[in-house]
Amino acid sequence: MNNVLDFINSHRDDYVAQLETFLAIPSISALPEHAGDVRRCAEWCVSELQRIGLQHAALHETPGHPIVYAEWLGAPGAPTMLFYGHYDVQPVDPLELWETPPFQATVREGAIYARGAADDKGQIFMHLKAIEAHLSQHGVLPINVKVLLEGEEEVGSANLDTFIAANADTLAADVVVISDSPMFDRDVPSICYGLRGLAYFQIDIRGSSTDLHSGSYGGAVANPALVLAQLLAQMKDKAGRIRIPGFYDAVVDVTPAERAEFARLPFNEKRWAREIGVPKPFGESGYSTLERKWARPTFEVNGLLAGFTGEGAKTVIPAVAMAKVSMRLVPDQDPATIGQLFEAYLKKLTPKTVTVKVTHMHGGKPWTTGFDNEWVQAAGRAIERGFGRQPVFVREGGSIPVVSTFQQVLGLPSVLFGIGLPGENAHAPNEWLDLSNFHNGVLAAAYLYEELARARQQPEA
Ligand code: BES
Ligand code: ZN
Repeated sequence: MNNVLDFINSHRDDYVAQLETFLAIPSISALPEHAGDVRRCAEWCVSELQRIGLQHAALHETPGHPIVYAEWLGAPGAPTMLFYGHYDVQPVDPLELWETPPFQATVREGAIYARGAADDKGQIFMHLKAIEAHLSQHGVLPINVKVLLEGEEEVGSANLDTFIAANADTLAADVVVISDSPMFDRDVPSICYGLRGLAYFQIDIRGSSTDLHSGSYGGAVANPALVLAQLLAQMKDKAGRIRIPGFYDAVVDVTPAERAEFARLPFNEKRWAREIGVPKPFGESGYSTLERKWARPTFEVNGLLAGFTGEGAKTVIPAVAMAKVSMRLVPDQDPATIGQLFEAYLKKLTPKTVTVKVTHMHGGKPWTTGFDNEWVQAAGRAIERGFGRQPVFVREGGSIPVVSTFQQVLGLPSVLFGIGLPGENAHAPNEWLDLSNFHNGVLAAAYLYEELARARQQPEA
């Protein structure tokens, strides 16, 4: 192991330079004009996987963006890790708010700034470097490794479940490892044991066939923008509770023990509010901020569009109004059921003076797991060795829909081993990854493979 650590420590600067080439590829999955870049990024991953010594590294076509798969199965009898990550990134707008260009990675104050730095290229790269270090120093890894990288995570992973079901034998493993989340705080490494799910919709309201003069028609027809605002206003009450009938039926509430654990975490709500710039937190009454973010479902408006929004004034009744809305879900809420409840409630509320269309966009199931299994314990030891501190156990509010697929289709537990930081600006301008976290993460990943191998050697209880 010492050779591996020396190798990693002596390549610290090279890693940053190599990561810059990965970050330079604008693999924005949401924008059709970047489809070629997404493919180029997949090809880059394939060649890197080959170069560091994995076998069968290949690009697999899907109806959308390609999936990348590679493996190294030279450790018979040792456990097999399925490493999952996503090489696609979010769009970069508003571009003018970036201090340096999103696809020209820039290092300042110990962090690397670029779209995808944290979410998720930097965290994928950390594992590639740890795998490379083992293979280059020993010619072998302590465990078998399968690497699965997708290019559609940021747009709902539409083709991943089909690929997994069709390749269940190839993907068979003992444990899934994912690094696609932040740690709890700087110097507070964490293992995440829960993610929220998601149900995403577009609402289109139409009044008239064309925009109307608000003097000639105002007062005699419904205004779609106002109807939409009234509909949205009925989704949540003043206490932050969602009013969709049946919405909470399947929700598993946080247990008193879990609430106590959350309360013990070093969370400073005032500092948190100041850092994100809100005057005061808001959420469902009766729950703490961490409970609201991690363990309670939510309804959000992600975008609104209606009428005249240019400079000056225009007296018009817009013909249409549109909203994008989404709900974060918690165990045991099901995105399809929630979608039906939402659509039924919305349609019941919509007045006959307009028409409404609801489009179901993507969704994903929520996930939680116990953390007393051997794989999570092994990851905890690896983090302690890499970061010099024991991890805390956290849940997260974001979604990685494939985690529940791994559980349900492949019967696999996942270990979420994220090394981002809060405030890393994922999905926002000026995304960054802390470079000392990255470096410790490469060390921790190298230790992880050793610890996973050791976990299997222990007699089963
Ligand atoms: N890396 C995030 C998931 C994440 C965010 C985990 C915050 C933990 C904390 C991931 O890339 C992501 O953004 N996922 C989308 C999924 C959606 C498009 C189905 C999300 O959460 O919005
Ligand atoms: Zn991500």
